[in-house]
Amino acid sequence: MKFINICLLAALVTGAAACGDDKFDLQPTPPVENDTPDNPETPGDGATSRNEQYRPQIHFTPAKNWINDPNGMVYVDGVYHLYYQYNPQGNSWGNMSWGHATSTDLVHWTEQGVAMVRNEWGDIFSGSAIVDKDNVAGFGKNAILAFYTASGEHQQQCLAYSTDGGATYTQYEGNPVIPNSVLGDFRDPKVVWHKESNKWIMALALGWSHQIEFWGSTDLKNWSRLSTFTTTNDRCNIGQWECPDLIRLPYKDGEKWVLIVSNNPGGPVGGSGTEYFIGDFDGESFTAMDLDYPLWLDYGADNYAGVTWSNMPDSRAVMIGWMNNWNYSGDVPCNPWRSAMTLPRELTLQEVNGSPLLATTVVKEMEAIAGEWNVSNDGIGDAWEARFNIDLTTNSVFRLENSYGQYMEVEVNAAARKLIVKRTSTTGETRFNNMFSLPSISSPFNCDDKEMELHVFVDRSSVEIMNATGTMCLTNLVFPRESYNRISGVEDVSYRKLSSIW
Ligand code: FRU
Repeated sequence: MKFINICLLAALVTGAAACGDDKFDLQPTPPVENDTPDNPETPGDGATSRNEQYRPQIHFTPAKNWINDPNGMVYVDGVYHLYYQYNPQGNSWGNMSWGHATSTDLVHWTEQGVAMVRNEWGDIFSGSAIVDKDNVAGFGKNAILAFYTASGEHQQQCLAYSTDGGATYTQYEGNPVIPNSVLGDFRDPKVVWHKESNKWIMALALGWSHQIEFWGSTDLKNWSRLSTFTTTNDRCNIGQWECPDLIRLPYKDGEKWVLIVSNNPGGPVGGSGTEYFIGDFDGESFTAMDLDYPLWLDYGADNYAGVTWSNMPDSRAVMIGWMNNWNYSGDVPCNPWRSAMTLPRELTLQEVNGSPLLATTVVKEMEAIAGEWNVSNDGIGDAWEARFNIDLTTNSVFRLENSYGQYMEVEVNAAARKLIVKRTSTTGETRFNNMFSLPSISSPFNCDDKEMELHVFVDRSSVEIMNATGTMCLTNLVFPRESYNRISGVEDVSYRKLSSIW
């Protein structure tokens, strides 16, 4: 695969030890003519519950088959659309298409038919969607426009539009809107509106070159290059840069722009991670403030390729991420589906020690499935939330445990001001891939107080730990024989059941 050769060359040049693009070689891509079903299979089978071992009960998963990055997230007329990298034909990476699910509350999802399958330009890689309220592209008022990377001989940016509320897409006849025959990695278009300059901005990631390019357009069809963002901080320049997002958020009396970049394999515990830069965007270029980079959106092992919904009411910034890591995603013991999304998260900027940090909290819509708070864990079931305080001035340890004696240990390290999750063989199944077991997954407290309230979300195969303000977050997969069902080592734990979204 030419893509791989370019990657190997880049790895040699940069001295990178491992090539992150191995993931694209997990499964050979069949020729175009064999790979475009006339009637893309509708993956949902109408099941109202799913009960396989490890099947998430409160996180989005497809009924069957492989998923990776969330794509094309857009809110239209009361419906949240979630598209995603999807293999309609199997449970490993390949045949990249956009699967599709919809929700009216960000919590319960209905799987829809596959929205886009491989075409003459290649596989349908990641991208974004917007609503063309003013019909500047000419496909109709309020048409949904999807921008994605067609990955064939080269990676090129293409446009498709939907006039049936996001169910089906027609390819724009002028594709590719941004052709490319030079760059090896050039992908994952995220399109956002910049009101001051009255134009659409597209952020694109350049993989191993550690660059984000910004392009601009007023008609969504003709794009011109505006600028390139890079950093001289080499601690940020590891792995491939992928899946950018550019958002503006209130901060103090004004606002700041945040550039989000997924990085693989350069994450906080190796493999996949999502870093961010805070600064300004003036309609042409992004300038990062001077902060202690890299800053990670999530210090856990399993939150990747997250981007925000477009066209959100009240300018909310809501993100969902792929809850997995390219280091072992092909081997996680899930069947007939593989991978879930994280819980949807609200993004805000919070001031800690005089500087802004990007914070993530679980969206308030989760209340829809939450039971009453209780001091007891009796009958807590497979999915639940717990809240409790931890003292940040002394060392301690707490555990999430199940009745098989399996546990995930978490250390509060007051001296280092870090929370450390230990994902070893005590947590459950870890042997499927030797990169899964991680004895120290640590996050700075990112908090200047002496005490911190933790919010812990447990599902059958994941634990998401956050503080109340969202400045500290650790999302990790685990594969215990049964869900953890109690927390030991801390006092005054409040539990509440989260009912299944199936
Ligand atoms: C990120 C990514 C994207 C690409 C997609 C392919 O996980 O590598 O850069 O578009 O996955 O499935």
